[in-house]
Amino acid sequence: MFVFSLILSFLSLSIYILLRRSGRRRGRLPPGNLGLPWIGETVQLISAYKTENPEPFIDDRVGRYGSVFTTHLFGEPTVFSADPETNRFILLNEGRLFESSYPGSISNLLGRHSLLLMRGSLHKRMHSLTTSFANSAIIRDHLLLDIDRLVRLNMDSWTARVLLMEEAKKITFQLTVKQLMSFDPCEWTENLMKEYMLVIEGFFTIPLPIFSTTYRKAIQARGKVAEALSLVVRDRRRAAEGGEIKNDMLAALLEEQGGFSDEQIVDFMLALLVAGYETTSTIMTLAVKFLTETPLALAQLKHEHEEIRLKRGETDALLWEDYKSMSFTQCVVNETLRVANIISGVFRRAITDVTIKESYTIPKGWKVFASFRGVHMDNHHFKDARVFNPWRWQNYSEATSTINMFNPFGGGPRRCPGAELARVELSVFLHRLVTQFSWEAIEQDKLVFFPTTRTQKRYPITIQRLKQGVVE
Ligand SMILES: *[C@@H]1O[C@H](CO)[C@@H](O)[C@H](O)[C@H]1NC(C)=O
Ligand SMILES: *[C@@H]1O[C@H](CO)[C@@H](O)[C@H](O)[C@H]1NC(C)=O
Repeated sequence: MFVFSLILSFLSLSIYILLRRSGRRRGRLPPGNLGLPWIGETVQLISAYKTENPEPFIDDRVGRYGSVFTTHLFGEPTVFSADPETNRFILLNEGRLFESSYPGSISNLLGRHSLLLMRGSLHKRMHSLTTSFANSAIIRDHLLLDIDRLVRLNMDSWTARVLLMEEAKKITFQLTVKQLMSFDPCEWTENLMKEYMLVIEGFFTIPLPIFSTTYRKAIQARGKVAEALSLVVRDRRRAAEGGEIKNDMLAALLEEQGGFSDEQIVDFMLALLVAGYETTSTIMTLAVKFLTETPLALAQLKHEHEEIRLKRGETDALLWEDYKSMSFTQCVVNETLRVANIISGVFRRAITDVTIKESYTIPKGWKVFASFRGVHMDNHHFKDARVFNPWRWQNYSEATSTINMFNPFGGGPRRCPGAELARVELSVFLHRLVTQFSWEAIEQDKLVFFPTTRTQKRYPITIQRLKQGVVE
């Protein structure tokens, strides 16, 4: 589920300023405005995304030109789609008509062998391996227990005042390290996290990463993280040859038919670490923020989890059937994903001239942005789209077209392989949070969407442990 917020930052470097209008265009471009030379409409986009309400950037243009329009972002002319059908078309034609496209600053940090940058058959292999590792059966039989245990372990150390975003990050980092290579939190993982946070910082340096010290530090830190991971991979390869089998992502990579090199495995794991971390921790924080601001929803959620707690007992591990019984929670999860739009959309490049909506042509080589936010925030697709209303999901079923409009994890061959895992992690987090604590937000904390979706102050809260047992 990673593609997320890099989206905005990664492009910054694109220095293909010359309009690539090569090739004879057979059809028309979608209507729109390329803005100023060089800068295009980038400044408007960034300033909109730095506020709590970035919608007008899309609203204005959709109002003027329709849901597919031409703009100029991060140094390149771009066809912007806030149209669900066009988005689907773009996602499903990955590899045929479109390919994902990222600049050098991102590949230097992620490594050549990350899922994000891979293409073709290797991508297919790695994607399916990741997907099968994070499928429901594996989560149920194997991952859930650790998720629950590590969430509780982390919450046990909370003091009266916490920065929720920081705690959520710790949790998701620990979970990801556990899932990838079976390490429980320890000094080694803490050190890894420190280096690794420097790498993450590097992703969000804009607009000129090459000249920034943050970026240089990030590259150095990447080296250290990669080194630490290489040692682990080497040890584990040796142990595996000696017949020791672990049940984690690394084991799956080592066992893969055809084999991956150590370098490939390290790059791949490093990128999954990025993927598992920032997005899931942000969604945890935002779910709590939205619930805090919507007391009726919070009350209903508490009720649902209190029933599970009474059935299960506080100290017992959550079971898969408990997760499956969290029906209102799933509404909260979907609604949080819809409103937060952590992955606001994805960039692709047209491999050839592509006709869309029967009337427009995207010229070969052009950037395309499939905006999920544009669809999720559109009143035509979701009634009162800008209101956090988890109940709206109670009446949606797989059969309704609304589900097709809802795309928090992308789609097609690059759909986020960790989608289900993220849902489970968030649900368990909410369960342990609402059954153990009451809390209050300490101050107003604004949501901003650039360079990543985050709350400005990392959502500080004061918490109180609930006196358990009284209810029983
Ligand atoms: C869902 O449907 C039920 C029955 O059809 C209706 O009473 C309820 O108001 C609907 N809820 C929402 C949020 O639309
Ligand atoms: C949440 O969204 C997913 C699609 O991503 C859908 O399959 C699921 O049914 C939705 N859940 C609810 C409770 O509506």
